[in-house]
Amino acid sequence: MGGEEVVEPRSHWLPAGTDRKSFAYFTIKDRLPQILTRVIDTLHRHKNEFFEEHGEKGVEAEKRAISFLSKLRNELQTDKPVTPLEDELPDAALWNQYLDYQRNLSNGNGEPSWFQSPWLFVECYMYRRIHAALAQNPPIDSFDVFKEGKAQNFFESQEAVIALCTYFQDLLKNLKDLDEKQLKEELFKLLQVSLWGNKCDLSFSAGEDSSQKSSPLQSLENLIPYILVNDMEKLWSVLVNAKKTNTENSKVRVDIILDNAGFELLSDLVLADFLLSSKLADEVHFHGKSIPWYVSDTTKHDFNWTIKQLQSANHKWMSKCGINWEGNLKKGVWVYHDHMFWTLPHDFSRMAEVAPDLYADLQKSNLLLFKGDLNYRKLTGDRKWEHSVPFHQALNKFHPAPLCSLRTLKSDTQVGLKPGQGEQIQASEPEWMISGKYGIVQFDAAL
Ligand code: F6P
Ligand code: MG
Repeated sequence: MGGEEVVEPRSHWLPAGTDRKSFAYFTIKDRLPQILTRVIDTLHRHKNEFFEEHGEKGVEAEKRAISFLSKLRNELQTDKPVTPLEDELPDAALWNQYLDYQRNLSNGNGEPSWFQSPWLFVECYMYRRIHAALAQNPPIDSFDVFKEGKAQNFFESQEAVIALCTYFQDLLKNLKDLDEKQLKEELFKLLQVSLWGNKCDLSFSAGEDSSQKSSPLQSLENLIPYILVNDMEKLWSVLVNAKKTNTENSKVRVDIILDNAGFELLSDLVLADFLLSSKLADEVHFHGKSIPWYVSDTTKHDFNWTIKQLQSANHKWMSKCGINWEGNLKKGVWVYHDHMFWTLPHDFSRMAEVAPDLYADLQKSNLLLFKGDLNYRKLTGDRKWEHSVPFHQALNKFHPAPLCSLRTLKSDTQVGLKPGQGEQIQASEPEWMISGKYGIVQFDAAL
């Protein structure tokens, strides 16, 4: 599999800024500078804290980081060329190789600038430069500029968190009495909670409040018509068949490629617990980000922090969840990974070549659940696909194991729809692909 050439002409990518009516253009022009401004404000606000912790050295580092970020914002807003990374972080060489590759694609038209490059590439690049601004400036090098927002999302979703933990602990009590049909219904419910949990991301709202306010379970029925592709039955079959063919030594393994911290992460953890408790799976592997990413994406710190918060919560069922989940990690039936590939600009069709170790690891899974919009963009290469192109084709040879995307639509890519389905929604709701109102549970079997 490794080394297979799957690249397509550059013009097929969603461009960052050549179509002024596109969501990509709006993102690069308005949303990204807004995010950068918030990051700079956050650093300003923590000045005293840096001083208390590290003295003058902390304040100096804060100033350097701010000046690096202001320069970055200026480069973006004045459409300067995207420059090679100058730091020595472990992924810098891979980034710079990718930059060269983009340069070669520009057919001698000079260095690709922010607005002339593919959207996915420059957006990822911005988050990588934000990381460099901090990582290069000890002693504040491990400060996560998005940490507060992620914690706030969790606290502001408190009611929904309580509702979900309470529902789930109640379900666990009755789990052994459920017949197969009921078990399937419960799985479908929790898949939907995890799907709609993806509405709560902070990059989409450019950092504004995006928490889950109401009970996540109540509205599921009403939201069914908004699931444009619903392959939940296929997921059930995969899991049930995996169990049947499972021998004593081979465990059924499900992987969740995580997206946002806050309420979405909680919904994923509940789903993961259900998979184990119902014995549909024996192991769940989580994949998070190794650096702060797209404002609200889950890092190892966020993952552990969330479980600790639950454990110490002043609510019986929240803390029960936290205690059980800590136990799952200790027993090794839950495993957390954070490979650097997830924060590179490459789409997933390049994984086998760029990160063969990760690809080989995913091949061990019975089912991969990819959460969220960015993962969908990377699954489909962020191309301008016709909506009726099969998902399998858009995956462009990325088939490590059976996989499924659980994603609310927040960017201009959608494949695997019935002929005319996309056009029909478009006619009445031009914003359908970027509003977060629609969702998909889209499955592809392995080869
Ligand atoms: O800013 C663009 C974007 O990639 C959107 O597609 C999406 O709104 C957001 O960032 C990330 O969404 P998610 O957290 O669901 O991956
Ligand atoms: Mg995200």
